[in-house]
Amino acid sequence: MTETITDLRRVGAHPDFWYPVSLSSSVRRGRVVPTAFAGERIAVYRTRSGAVHALEDRCAHRQVPLSMGAVSGEVLRCGYHAWAYRGDGRISQIPYLSKGDSRPPRGVRAYPVREAYGLVFVFPGDPDKAADTPLPELPAYGSPRYRTMSYSRTVHCHYSFMHENLLDMNHQFLHRGVVGRLRPELLGHESTKTSVEARYLFTHTGGKRNRGAGLLAGEGLTASDSSDVVTIRTEYPYQTLDLVPKGAARPAFRLWVAYVPEDAAQRTCHVYGLLMIEKPAIPGLLPLARPLIRRFTERVFAEDRKAVEAEQRAWDEQGEDRNHEVFPLILDVRDVLRTNGIPFTLQPDPCATTPQCAGTDPTPDQQ
Ligand code: FES
Ligand SMILES: [Fe+2]
Repeated sequence: MTETITDLRRVGAHPDFWYPVSLSSSVRRGRVVPTAFAGERIAVYRTRSGAVHALEDRCAHRQVPLSMGAVSGEVLRCGYHAWAYRGDGRISQIPYLSKGDSRPPRGVRAYPVREAYGLVFVFPGDPDKAADTPLPELPAYGSPRYRTMSYSRTVHCHYSFMHENLLDMNHQFLHRGVVGRLRPELLGHESTKTSVEARYLFTHTGGKRNRGAGLLAGEGLTASDSSDVVTIRTEYPYQTLDLVPKGAARPAFRLWVAYVPEDAAQRTCHVYGLLMIEKPAIPGLLPLARPLIRRFTERVFAEDRKAVEAEQRAWDEQGEDRNHEVFPLILDVRDVLRTNGIPFTLQPDPCATTPQCAGTDPTPDQQ
């Protein structure tokens, strides 16, 4: 594949996919939460009966965010003059008007919405395509063999940096303090128009083996220095990582991740991750292991976040992508992200690096 002149950091995530915008647990009955996709603010709420809806977060009356409103039974009431909205975005009541008075012709945009895997997904693109666009398939999520940890974090960078970061395992030097010395050997990679898959053999070659890393890799409490095959795949627009200990039949864990741009310039993304961990052979070990695994993954993620946010700052300073990428499969994933996304020419958004004005809750969720 060849690089084109389009700056990848000016390519928007294609909206014709299902994107998570919240953890299900954050949208409790009777609660409305502000979320966003690429600068479109979306109010997600759960009615008293438990149905989840997603509406344009702007009242048709005076443009006040509907997320400042309140759920009342099955409707969402704007917090200002209490106009009531149904889940399809239509106005069901304007409390101070009597029947027959003039009304606005329509309400607000309603987004197709679905709940799966403990996440609320919306379809921000052409709504006619929503029904035929599948949600990601995650068989391990519901499997009795696996237990899932959820991650929800805002990262101040273009989503493409995240894909490149996870696929390019040559950055283990960054994690040397947490994981010791890991030697990644590329076993092979395959690219299509919509995907890049890379397989690595990971060998621990020195330094202390992290207990959380060992538990995550299915090694039990006595971490060994075994080798693991790690398969990472960008299947537009999602990414997965499976780790299979050498000789094992099944992954010790599978990670699924979506990077959801928040601001219009897409210089901030929200990361939703599902880490599906195989239950250990020793009963009762997983509850003990969970805090160690959580701590390990948070430390690794913090290091990755530092690197990708630094990359974004360099882009901001220089106003263009001056990366000199040399790894073939990363050149491939750049092409996949470029050709499957939609170019845009927005000016940088001052909100992109200011958590207080990002579209979603600035306090990271986790469970
Ligand atoms: S601004 Fe929403 S009801 Fe008036
Ligand atoms: Fe990393």
